[in-house]
Amino acid sequence: MSDPAGPADPAGLADPAGLAGAARTADPARLVGTVGIRPLRAGDGPALARAYARNRDHLAPWEPLRPEGWFTEQGQEHNVTRRLVEQRQGVTLPWVLVDGDRVVGTMTVSGIVRGPCLSGNLGYWVDGACTGRGVATAAVAHVVAACAREGLHRLQAGTLLHNAASQTVLRRNGFERIGVARRYLRIAGTWQDHVLLERLLED
Ligand SMILES: CC(C)(COP(=O)(O)OP(=O)(O)OC[C@H]1O[C@@H](n2cnc3c(N)ncnc32)[C@H](O)[C@@H]1OP(=O)(O)O)[C@@H](O)C(=O)NCCC(=O)NCCS
Repeated sequence: MSDPAGPADPAGLADPAGLAGAARTADPARLVGTVGIRPLRAGDGPALARAYARNRDHLAPWEPLRPEGWFTEQGQEHNVTRRLVEQRQGVTLPWVLVDGDRVVGTMTVSGIVRGPCLSGNLGYWVDGACTGRGVATAAVAHVVAACAREGLHRLQAGTLLHNAASQTVLRRNGFERIGVARRYLRIAGTWQDHVLLERLLED
C-alpha cells in the first residue's frame, strides 16, 4: 500500500493534501449578527493586540500568564508571524473572529499530527462583549467542518473543570468527554486539571 505522505516527506510536515487550505479563504464567513470568521493573515497583529488588551481581565483566568509584550502591536505581529509559519508547516490552522475591523476572538487548531493520528488541538476565546450569543458555538461548527473537509480525523480540546460555557460549546458541536488530565496546562500561573474532549470528524 502506498504512503500518502510519500518518501519525500518523511517527517509528515509537508501539506500535499492542502490541509492548510482550510485557513486560506479570503472573506469572513458570517457566524452571528455582524460577527464572522476568517483565516488569520499577516497584518492582523495590531487588531489582535487591541483585542487582547480589551479582554485582558476577561481572559486572565483561562489563559497562560502573558508577558507585557503580548498586549503590544509588536508582540502580536510576532505571534501572527509564528502562527503563519506553523500553518505553512502544516501543524496549525489559525482563524480570527471579526466584527468589522475589530478582532473579537480566535479559533486555533494547533499541534496537528499526521500519519495514522491526523489529529489537532482546538483552542479559542471570544471577546467579553460578544459572549452569550452563540458566537463560539457557531465558530467551532465552522472549524469542525473545515477540518473535516481538509481530511483531519479528530479534534481534541481541553477545558478547565469549571469552564461550563466552553464545555457547553464543545458538547453542542459533538465533542465527547474523554476524561480528566491532571495538571494538564499551566493556566493563570498554576498547573490545572482539565477535562479532555474529542470529536471524531467522520461522525
Ligand atoms: C467560553 C467562551 C468561548 C464561550 O463563548 P460564547 O460565544 O459565549 O459561547 P456560546 O454563546 O456559543 O455558548 C455558551 C453557552 O454556555 C452557556 N454558559 C455560559 N456560562 C455558563 C455557566 N457558567 N454554566 C453553564 N453554562 C454557561 C451559555 O449560556 C451558552 O449557552 P446558551 O446558548 O444555552 O445560553 C467565552 O466565554 C470565552 O472566550 N471565555 C474565556 C476564554 C475561554 O474560556 N476559552 C475556552 C478555553 S477551553
